[in-house]
Amino acid sequence: MLAVQRLSHSFRNGAEATPVLHDLNFRVEQGEMVALLGSSGSGKSTLLNLMAGLMKPTQGHILIAGQAIEQMNENRLAEFRRSHIGFIFQSYELIPHLTVRENVELPLVFQSTGSRERKERALALLAQVGIGDKAELFPSQLSGGQQQRVSIARSLITKPAIVFADEPTGNLDTKTEKEIIDLLIDLNQNSGITFVIVTHEHEVACRTQRILHLRDGYLIEDSRQDGAAG
Ligand SMILES: Nc1ncnc2c1ncn2[C@@H]1O[C@H](COP(=O)(O)OP(=O)(O)OP(=O)(O)O)[C@@H](O)[C@H]1O
Ligand SMILES: [Mg+2]
Repeated sequence: MLAVQRLSHSFRNGAEATPVLHDLNFRVEQGEMVALLGSSGSGKSTLLNLMAGLMKPTQGHILIAGQAIEQMNENRLAEFRRSHIGFIFQSYELIPHLTVRENVELPLVFQSTGSRERKERALALLAQVGIGDKAELFPSQLSGGQQQRVSIARSLITKPAIVFADEPTGNLDTKTEKEIIDLLIDLNQNSGITFVIVTHEHEVACRTQRILHLRDGYLIEDSRQDGAAG
């Protein structure tokens, strides 16, 4: 599903290059739920953005569904991202003047899906994430946890191969955090969706099947756990 090979990344600041990720190698199989763990500044968001094709690595390869995304030109990559990759942001990133349903439909507007099918799929996903009754409200009329549910539904509408989430519960209280993680685990177990979730919460990581741990841009742990996700 996802392969990261000899991946290194540096940020350029004028003539100076700051190395942030060092020779990372790992694979994520279809249907896995992975926690990407590490302290602040360890490179989690950088790695996630690289894997989601939001920027290009300095070195190495990122294969999604067998295709090296770092080699794609801008148009091809944009098209590939729209059809294969979902992304969930810590701050939801919803469009305030669109209704909840319209926000969820948005990724399909760029595809050739008809408006009726768009609407049906959005409503079905909103029901699946537990806010079927909020479809015609605006994001500002929802709680943080509900807004994150909208953003989760939006990330799934194109039926992506893999969904990346950068601290999806970072703005939520502990109870709501648990509910959102429960939802992601349910989507993983019952709909087979592959997730890579950035977190610095050990609680979240304890509930995934697999932990990737970054320290100062090095992968210091890659472990599978039995009996997680409960
Ligand atoms: N656009 C950028 N330009 C220069 N340096 C950057 C850039 N983005 C990130 N960095 C640096 O790369 C390192 C890793 O940052 P990153 O955002 O990936 O960390 P993180 O693990 O996601 O941290 P946090 O938990 O605080 O979100 C940091 O030292 C940061 O300063
Ligand atoms: Mg980050």
